[in-house]
Amino acid sequence: MGSRIVATGRATPRTLITNHDLERRMDTSDEWIRTRTGIAQRYVISSGESLVEIAAQASQIALDRAGLKPADLEAIVVGTVSSDYGFPSFACQLQHRLGLDTIPAFDVAAACSGFVYALSVGDTYMRAGEWSRILVLGVDALSTMVDWGDRATAVLFGDGAGAAVLVKENGPRGVLGSMLRSSGGFWDLLYVKNRGVQTTMDAEVRRPNDDAITMKGPELFKIAVKSMEDVTRKVAERARVKLEDISLIVPHQANLRIINAVAQRLGLGPDKVFTNVDRYGNTSAASVPIALDEAIEAGRVHDHDLIMLNACGGGLTWGANLIRW
Ligand SMILES: CC(C)(COP(=O)(O)OP(=O)(O)OC[C@H]1O[C@@H](n2cnc3c(N)ncnc32)[C@H](O)[C@@H]1OP(=O)(O)O)[C@@H](O)C(=O)NCCC(=O)NCCS
Repeated sequence: MGSRIVATGRATPRTLITNHDLERRMDTSDEWIRTRTGIAQRYVISSGESLVEIAAQASQIALDRAGLKPADLEAIVVGTVSSDYGFPSFACQLQHRLGLDTIPAFDVAAACSGFVYALSVGDTYMRAGEWSRILVLGVDALSTMVDWGDRATAVLFGDGAGAAVLVKENGPRGVLGSMLRSSGGFWDLLYVKNRGVQTTMDAEVRRPNDDAITMKGPELFKIAVKSMEDVTRKVAERARVKLEDISLIVPHQANLRIINAVAQRLGLGPDKVFTNVDRYGNTSAASVPIALDEAIEAGRVHDHDLIMLNACGGGLTWGANLIRW
């Protein structure tokens, strides 16, 4: 008994910020951002916009594609670190927005690995026979936590939501296995204080920025490459799948150079790796489900293909899910 993703959906905030827009705000250049990260643009949430609403849009698209109604769901698991509230959880707010009541709804906090973690949690509950139709999301708005005066972090992040409908499945298709890893010893490579910054890019009043996202980029870069390679190999090995049999890797979209380095170490060509970091930036937990949704739309995912999702993020956390589509 396992679970299968039967539909996905994505949504972003309205405001699109290009590298050229950033050039006008800070000492950076389109050329630097593109060559160091692969990013050309990102969507950022504006004052008055609601991340819960954006997540609800992504959820509704996924539910419509699955031919289900919110009332058919038995649980909501959200990978996020962007709830407006310490509590209630983001998942509870989304549950209310979707008009649901009493089904379990909870967040999984694993920063950029949030969706990979949430999918593993959802799949494990379904293997245990607990649920048969659930919604798994990755949702984040890290643009609200950066210091817009810090060019080293401000150019990297975008906001959004990706949703997947997971149903119980007894056949050969579905999530074949997941592996989750964490290393709290590296916590200070990427962190933000609880309720750090919490302002939108367009806000008139700037808060003190000593509570903004802090990142040791170059160290993080190296560990991200090694950990994503390692966990991808191990998940494949455990499922007795050869790397060359994987049809597509849908990795966390933090930096094109990280994605390319991981693919190179795994011996996989560009045709086997999906990237959209150029258009979204690093949307944290939302990046894998948004990329998966786009990969499906682009015809890069076919029935029975082996699809690998992998991610690494603050915590540090990292992990991978192997799926027989
Ligand atoms: C952040 C990152 C793109 C920086 O690239 P890098 O090649 O390591 O660059 P460095 O941080 O060493 O900085 C190199 C120079 O560029 C400058 N720089 C940094 N950000 C800049 C920007 N936005 N525009 C222009 N110059 C910038 C630095 O000040 C530095 O200048 P100096 O040499 O005069 O001191 C890269 O380290 C990275 O992607 N790390 C991983 C980040 C990540 O993925 N985080 C999320 C993980 S989930």
